[in-house]
Amino acid sequence: MEEKLMAKSAIDKLFNPKSVAVVGASRHSGKIGHAVLYNLVYGGYRGKIYPINPNANEVLGLQCYPSVLKVPEEIDLAVITVPSVLVPQVMEEIGQKNISTSIVISSGFKEVGGEGAKLEREIVEIAKKYGIRFLGPNCFGVIDTWNSLNTTFSSQSPLKGHIAFISQSGALCVAILNQGLMEKIGFSKFINLGNKADIDEIDLMEYLADDPQTKVITLYLEDIRQGRKFVRTARKVVKKKPVLVIKAGRTEEGEKAVSSHTGSLAGMDVAYETAFKQSGVIRAYRIDELFDAAEAFANQPIPKSEKVAIITNGGGVGVLLTDAASLNGLKFARFSQKTIEELHKFLPPFASFRNPLDVTGNANEEVYFNAFKTIINDPNVDGVITASLPLQIMDERKLAHLIGEVATQVKKPVIGCFMGGEEVEEVEDILRKYNIPNYTEPERAVKAYAKLVRYKKILEELNMEENVVTFDVNRKGVAEIFKKLREENRTRLTEIEAKQVLENYGIIVPKYRVVKSLEEAVEAAEDIGYPVVLKIVSPDIIHKSDIGAVKINIIDEKKLRVAYQEIIRNVKKHAPKAVVHGISVQEMVPSGIEVIIGGIKDPQFGPLVMFGLGGIYVEIFRDVAFRVTPVSEREAEKMISEIRGYNIIRGVRGRTRGDINFIKETIMRVSQLLEDFKEISELDINPLTVHEKGGFAVDARMKIKY
Ligand code: ACO
Repeated sequence: MEEKLMAKSAIDKLFNPKSVAVVGASRHSGKIGHAVLYNLVYGGYRGKIYPINPNANEVLGLQCYPSVLKVPEEIDLAVITVPSVLVPQVMEEIGQKNISTSIVISSGFKEVGGEGAKLEREIVEIAKKYGIRFLGPNCFGVIDTWNSLNTTFSSQSPLKGHIAFISQSGALCVAILNQGLMEKIGFSKFINLGNKADIDEIDLMEYLADDPQTKVITLYLEDIRQGRKFVRTARKVVKKKPVLVIKAGRTEEGEKAVSSHTGSLAGMDVAYETAFKQSGVIRAYRIDELFDAAEAFANQPIPKSEKVAIITNGGGVGVLLTDAASLNGLKFARFSQKTIEELHKFLPPFASFRNPLDVTGNANEEVYFNAFKTIINDPNVDGVITASLPLQIMDERKLAHLIGEVATQVKKPVIGCFMGGEEVEEVEDILRKYNIPNYTEPERAVKAYAKLVRYKKILEELNMEENVVTFDVNRKGVAEIFKKLREENRTRLTEIEAKQVLENYGIIVPKYRVVKSLEEAVEAAEDIGYPVVLKIVSPDIIHKSDIGAVKINIIDEKKLRVAYQEIIRNVKKHAPKAVVHGISVQEMVPSGIEVIIGGIKDPQFGPLVMFGLGGIYVEIFRDVAFRVTPVSEREAEKMISEIRGYNIIRGVRGRTRGDINFIKETIMRVSQLLEDFKEISELDINPLTVHEKGGFAVDARMKIKY
């Protein structure tokens, strides 16, 4: 607990320091250390500033110190702008001076490899030794607009506002900063993570969750190194405020070599997509989309539901907004009778009196405003997108004021879609005064609004109870199977071993017996009951059917004898070197709905469970759902219902339905198995044959890593 409190106050000093030292405060205006000092001195920061430079007496009129150790007072934050080779020594001095927080702007660390990576490890060690928390290295620094603190070498500061931006790229910080100024977007904090050798996005999200000036957290990320911690933390943060992310690197290039279906379906991006979805983090795919939504969150309340009203004075814009609204999951509120009667009083008879409401080009600002006021006060309407085109008879500036006055009175979101050329800028400034974000493109307005609705739903979901069931299982039995594999230096389980693992976790498999001779096979088939299936049992043969080592639907002893010999012949011919454990005689279960349940271990996010329809559905349509484990009962249910093939399982059009509770339970049991045994790297139950009541894991593959 104490450690946590300490950590938090160290991060707080990144934004809220009482004093800052710039180590490497250069005398020369073209250097980064000089620019950082300049931004602190002239950016309005009110704390104490200490330039550190052994080669100077004063810089920018401030007394210089040769080292932080020579500063007589306490220092809260040290910004380092000396060449990388000098950073370890500086970090030592920072530790000796008891400075809790530092920003390492210097480049030349892990990003350059070799010696740089060594230097980075060195500074991490020194920081650990003294308990210093640091941002970077190779970073742009931070800006806190509310404290007028700018520790970067930017040429300008962003406008004050309520959006926090955390970026893994320094270059993107600079670009967004300038674009933000052009578009008048207000920021609370601006942070570049750099190499993330210590402080990362998780620490910062946690801190910003309680920052009163931040209403929405936006992130640009290239990787997440502590995936599980990210999910855990994000779920807590999202309950307090929305988190929006752009995650770069979505292509599947570099996908790992995998042998299971689950593995090949889990491309590089699946774990991220899954983790964001599970933690309630809203993903954007473009920078403008990210900040459009951020502006809506920073300025407007969250709607009670997806029921929106659209008002416009131009039919075409109304159509565009309507299409976009439908595509983005918004619902059109039904106007009450009272609203319609009221509208009839001032709208021309040829106006539409339904939602979306077209007040027509006939409407001046008074008429438009009366309509706006009427619909926003309709109890069926939970928010409004207000669109307007510049027309001669309409004073849009006046309209913007009128709308703004009313919008600030109601607790419903209002998003603007005032379109037009340069003249719209003035109108946008007016709307901004009333905290109404405006988008000159209908789809952008709708998408921003839709994210408000999405967040509302996310909050509802996150606040639902999550019940992670723990089944009574035979953990020891599985540990023994894995121990044996390790002893034999094997990573791939045979089908029988994989099924034994599943049985230990209460997952039902068809009856089977492994035999070593034809006579034993005949006996086993008698005991199990015809029809049966014969399969080779070998750790070296993965694709058994491909070489004719699986025979199904064997209805009597005569057929069994033939099938047995054929398998032996095929294996001798196609896999002469394979180690063979025997042949398994298995119960042939009746056909049913074939689904796949799989597992994969992601290097950042740990185990993921997959569910989908089996057979061609999984291969061609990739119709699958993933979740980071552990999977709760509700999540398992959602996995089943969110795939496109859900109706097939539900048994539409007279088809037999599958036992959804059985699938749900199997997903949860697999989740528990993956949680308990982190050495499982790949797992496929394919197919899991599902009947109206229960089902069987008919085939299974599993691989471990140790
Ligand atoms: N303590 C304090 N100051 C010292 C010390 C010391 N031990 N030793 C030397 N100094 C002084 C120097 O005398 C110099 O001051 P002066 O110009 O008055 O003489 C000052 O520190 C800077 O040292 P230089 O050797 O001149 O280093 P320079 O300024 O050329 O470069 C820098 C240092 C900026 C850290 C450089 O090595 C670097 O890494 N640049 C890239 C930074 C970067 O891009 N970071 C990522 C940002 S993200 C983005 O790209 C947007």
